[in-house]
This record gives sequence, structure tokens and C-alpha cells, in this order.
Amino acid sequence: SGPAMARLVASRVLDVPDFPKPDVLFKDLMPLFADGVAFRAVVDGIVEHHGRDSFDVVVGIEARGFVVAAAIAYATGKGVVPVRKAGKLPRAAYAESYALEYGEATLEVHQDAFTAGQRALVVDDVLATGGTARATLDLVERAGGTVAGFTVLLELSFLGGRERLSPRGVHALLTV
Ligand code: PRP
Repeated sequence: SGPAMARLVASRVLDVPDFPKPDVLFKDLMPLFADGVAFRAVVDGIVEHHGRDSFDVVVGIEARGFVVAAAIAYATGKGVVPVRKAGKLPRAAYAESYALEYGEATLEVHQDAFTAGQRALVVDDVLATGGTARATLDLVERAGGTVAGFTVLLELSFLGGRERLSPRGVHALLTV
């Protein structure tokens, strides 16, 4: 259930002060990834929420989103499309730049990553300011895919990511 899933994520996240910069409270989900029972429950919960027939492919955002995306893809027999930091992809790519909570970055996806109208479930570990997510959802559509859903394990609501993504929705297992 939703509340049980939120409790599970809350119990497996560590707050790290002053990382990667002073005055940033970093949310570290490594304990969740490291716990096989908890990780499987979270992956199954995401699949159940969206429905395995609602998407054709899973998009993971570098780097921690890859962990979640690969597990969902394997569990449902779908493929993975990685959205990568600038300069990592070997072939022709679309690029979107965005401002991060700390710094600035560019994300890329291969131009041929999707077949026309292919339905993508997009996943990441954390939604903070929403810049990463917005760039990714834009990239999926530029590359010809459609966004079937967007899920994060943890939403930091005070950073306004959900508003930044509007009118697109986001499903968060835990919102703080
Ligand atoms: C973190 C996190 C999200 C993003 C959220 O990734 O995993 O992808 O920031 O921030 P935003 O909503 O403010 O855009 P990070 O950029 O630290 O990359 P990493 O996973 O490669 O370390």
C-alpha cells in the first residue's frame, strides 16, 4: 500500500548534512538499494502502481535512476533507455540543459532511443528542484517517445519539483 511503501523508503534513507556542498542536506538512498527485500518491494510497488501493461520501455536517469530502471525493466521484461550526462552517449543525441539544486547540467538521449509513440515509464531516485526530471521528460518526447508515467522514490516537496513539472504528474513513493 502507499503508506507502507512510504514507511519503507523512510526507513532506508540517510540524511547527510553538507553534501555535496555546505548547507545541502543530501538524501542517500543507498541503504534502500542495499536491502534486497526492501528494494524488491519498492520495485514491485512501482510496477503495481503503473501497471505492467501501461509502458513499453523504462527510462532511467543517470546515475541512481539506472539502478531502479534496470530492476523494473527486468521484472517486467522491458528494455531500458538510459538518459545520460553530457558527452557519454556514443551516437547522435538530443540534449537538454537545466539548473540543478547545486550547479548546472546537461542530459542527453540517443535520437533513435524510441520507436514512434513508444510509451516510456521514467524513474529516478529523488525529485528535488525538478530540473533533471523536466529535461528528461522533454528529451523523451523530443526523441519520439510518450511519457507513460514518472516515478521517484523520494520527493523533496519544499524544492518545488512537482510545480515545475506541471501539468505533468509525478508519483512519489515518499514525499517529505
Ligand atoms: C540527483 C538525483 C536526481 C536529481 C534531482 O542526481 O538522483 O537525478 O539530482 O535533482 P533536481 O530535481 O533538482 O534536478 P545527481 O544530479 O546528483 O546525479 P547522480 O545520480 O549522477 O549523482
